[in-house]
Amino acid sequence: MRSMILGITGSGKTTLARDIAATAKMKKRRVVVFDPFLHSEGNTWSCDFITADLDRFCAVVFNPKNQGLVVMIDEAGTALDRDADYNRLATLSRHSKHDVYFIAQQPTMLLPVIRCNCDQAFIFRVGGTFPKLLAAELAAPEIERAATLEKYHYLWWRDFSKISEHKIILSTRACRKN
Ligand SMILES: Nc1ncnc2c1ncn2[C@@H]1O[C@H](COP(=O)(O)OP(=O)(O)OP(=O)(O)O)[C@@H](O)[C@H]1O
Ligand SMILES: [Mg+2]
Repeated sequence: MRSMILGITGSGKTTLARDIAATAKMKKRRVVVFDPFLHSEGNTWSCDFITADLDRFCAVVFNPKNQGLVVMIDEAGTALDRDADYNRLATLSRHSKHDVYFIAQQPTMLLPVIRCNCDQAFIFRVGGTFPKLLAAELAAPEIERAATLEKYHYLWWRDFSKISEHKIILSTRACRKN
């Protein structure tokens, strides 16, 4: 499965991603994280491997011996600037059975090949034309509500499923709003 976590700065993307990683670890999944801010913030992820070095990261996720990883790519829009790796990451989980999470502030920071390969999205507040863009691309008009979401609230979209609104509850699993 490939997922996007999108939203303006401070909306809660990394917090949600860390929560998903912690839950995956509890389920005995192996979690690998690419976090370009690792050196300034320290490791606050539950994971088996974390790096700010794209080469080291790619060596792990593209190693055929590693199957079924949970792969977190924070700041995916600005961090992944090498087209070949970027495109390979988009289709990665089809071959390796990885679950890949692309985290970015704006949908257009992710290449269209990434966006159209995602079958799950966690959408916090996004501005400008992005709610309309996402609603059109994911064929889900309700996503236009992303323009007015409260802080720490997100819309959860999955292929052909109903969209639901959730709020991050700190120190616990992300919980439903109602
Ligand atoms: N439900 C919540 N209640 C209170 N604080 C929260 C909640 N969710 C997240 N936060 C806090 O909000 C801050 C911003 O969250 P986070 O770093 O996840 O945002 P982000 O979307 O990743 O931002 P950026 O795009 O700048 O990386 C963090 O300090 C986090 O602890
Ligand atoms: Mg963040």
